[in-house]
Amino acid sequence: MADIILETRGLEKRFGGVRAIAGVDFKLARGELRCLIGPNGAGKSTFFKMLTAQLRPSSGRILFDGTDISRAQPHQISRLGIGIKNQVPDVYDGLSVHENLWLAARFRQDSELARSAVKTALERLELDRISADIVGELAHGQRQWVEFGMIMVLEPVIVLLDEPTAGMSVEETNRTADLIHEINRTTTVIVVEHDMQFIRQIAKQVTVFHQGSILAEDTMENIQQNQTVRDVYLGVSGRA
Ligand SMILES: Nc1ncnc2c1ncn2[C@@H]1O[C@H](COP(=O)(O)OP(=O)(O)O)[C@@H](O)[C@H]1O
Ligand SMILES: [Mg+2]
Repeated sequence: MADIILETRGLEKRFGGVRAIAGVDFKLARGELRCLIGPNGAGKSTFFKMLTAQLRPSSGRILFDGTDISRAQPHQISRLGIGIKNQVPDVYDGLSVHENLWLAARFRQDSELARSAVKTALERLELDRISADIVGELAHGQRQWVEFGMIMVLEPVIVLLDEPTAGMSVEETNRTADLIHEINRTTTVIVVEHDMQFIRQIAKQVTVFHQGSILAEDTMENIQQNQTVRDVYLGVSGRA
């Protein structure tokens, strides 16, 4: 049996009368790089927010490495090793790249461990070249990668990335694909994305959300051939 790091069972989120997530059974194996796609309003962000305790489930369960985290608080989620990157970069613009990573690392580790975690993250994400630069003066893509670094210094078990390539140039998007592969060498990753070209670059296994439910789950190759998926999603975007 596969080593399941994250699982949801009958997960639901209702906003008043709207079932934004309508009974999702989801499984993710340790080490996977999974993409979540689906049309606007499908429930992707709501699902992500429940996994990271930004929203509380209406019903159902979330199991992380066998532990029920359905009722956990955000700081507990972070301590358990779930790292989150929201769409808007959460960085300190007035500080250098190094200082940003240092502050993130010191949040949880003593200075010895923090120092080595920062050094490793700077090298892995190739941020060492710009480590003295002020983050507010960096290009859009570079600011996003600094936040990747701030997540990686905490040595997370799983990383959730919400639309990491939004607003990026083609070059920045390609670089981001490389960085996500690098992150995935040591960390399980889930990416919510719209950019189909990008998903083709990184995805092995894709989960398609539609109206709060999982419509399909398969390899990217098969998802692209799936007529139901094409009808509700790919066909609509015209980019399939
Ligand atoms: N805070 C909220 N209050 C009320 N309805 C919400 C809220 N957040 C999301 N929704 C609704 O839940 C559904 C799913 O939204 P969302 O998860 O943002 O979809 P996606 O990220 O796939 O575009 C939509 O119908 C949306 O309007
Ligand atoms: Mg969304």
